Amino acid sequence: MVEFSRRVESVSISGIREVFEAAGSEAINLGLGQPDFPTPEHARAAAVEAIETGKADAYTSNFGTESLRDAIREKHARDNDLDVSREQVIATAGGSEALHLALEAHVDSGDEVLHPDPGFVSYSALTKLAGGTPVSVPLRDDLTLSPAAVEQRITPDTAAIIINSPANPTGAVQPPSDMRAFARIADEYDVLLISDEVYEQIVFEGTHRSPMEFADSDNVVVINAASKTYSMTGWRLGWVVASEARIERMLRVHQYIQACASAPAQHAAEAALRGPQEQVEDMVEAFETRRDVLRSGLEDMGLSVPEPRGAFYVMPEVPAGWVDAVIERGVIVVPGSAFGDAGSGYARISYATDLETIREALDVMRDATQAVS
Ligand SMILES: Cc1ncc(COP(=O)(O)O)c(C=O)c1O
Repeated sequence: MVEFSRRVESVSISGIREVFEAAGSEAINLGLGQPDFPTPEHARAAAVEAIETGKADAYTSNFGTESLRDAIREKHARDNDLDVSREQVIATAGGSEALHLALEAHVDSGDEVLHPDPGFVSYSALTKLAGGTPVSVPLRDDLTLSPAAVEQRITPDTAAIIINSPANPTGAVQPPSDMRAFARIADEYDVLLISDEVYEQIVFEGTHRSPMEFADSDNVVVINAASKTYSMTGWRLGWVVASEARIERMLRVHQYIQACASAPAQHAAEAALRGPQEQVEDMVEAFETRRDVLRSGLEDMGLSVPEPRGAFYVMPEVPAGWVDAVIERGVIVVPGSAFGDAGSGYARISYATDLETIREALDVMRDATQAVS
């Protein structure tokens, strides 16, 4: 039999998928990583119009359409106080492809990539697929990533550091002082800082600041997407922002693996970025209410819940057997260990579902907590 590459054998199907497969079809799913809101109507309409008029029939520029990249440029000026040019943006197939491009373009075989642990599952997998070695950095007690802990793990082999705020799976939001420190580290040690900002709009306390704002060098690459902000996970539209030299290298990868992001999705994302933002505000408000209910329900059970200040996840510390007991009772939550070794002893609970379902799930979790305590 033809053998498989060592790179592909070094990664496995995400532990999140395994949990879904183990649960019954009637289960309440608090394992989801996507907002439960519709894509804004004006975004859908823009895609329909592009399809019906034939505007979406052909490849776009490898970079993405000029008008989408202008909308992204305007978004970064508006929200992040960043002056990026159209040439500093590539539209990608979701934030996932943007991460892949950044790693492929900067990681050589044997290079080390520092990433938060627990952290989004793709960071270590994409590092391995790029031939690199993931190096996990444990989090502080409040589940934020400490710049000092990152700095301690930098070696001559470190090619990149990945940071993510607001974070999946923790809901933690890094304070601006940390973002400033990460930017300083990228400058001082001359390592690449990949800042995954796909949840940037979903912040309840604190402020999101991009480290790109603070860096003096061009060592910061920003990953973003329409996926979470506009509830467009199925559209597969993200982007990467970096210096022109870095974009040119990432474009080489993008050109051969993707050619261009899906044209209808590019039209939809442009409309979402340029259109009214009230729906985003309403979504964030709904998430905050749910977060409050979930957090106080978990605390009432006696669980310790590091403060979830953004995204749509909470990550309580849970007793041994808790995740299995909850899943057996029909509620899907994801064991923290699915996000890295340092995640064991925690569970990720997503609140991308309505309040009534969250309350129902809390009853189940209370029962499970009593059973294992
Ligand atoms: C932290 C983080 N980054 C990136 C992504 C990828 O997003 P996309 O659906 O745009 O590929 C996700 C998706 O769950 C995520 O949680």
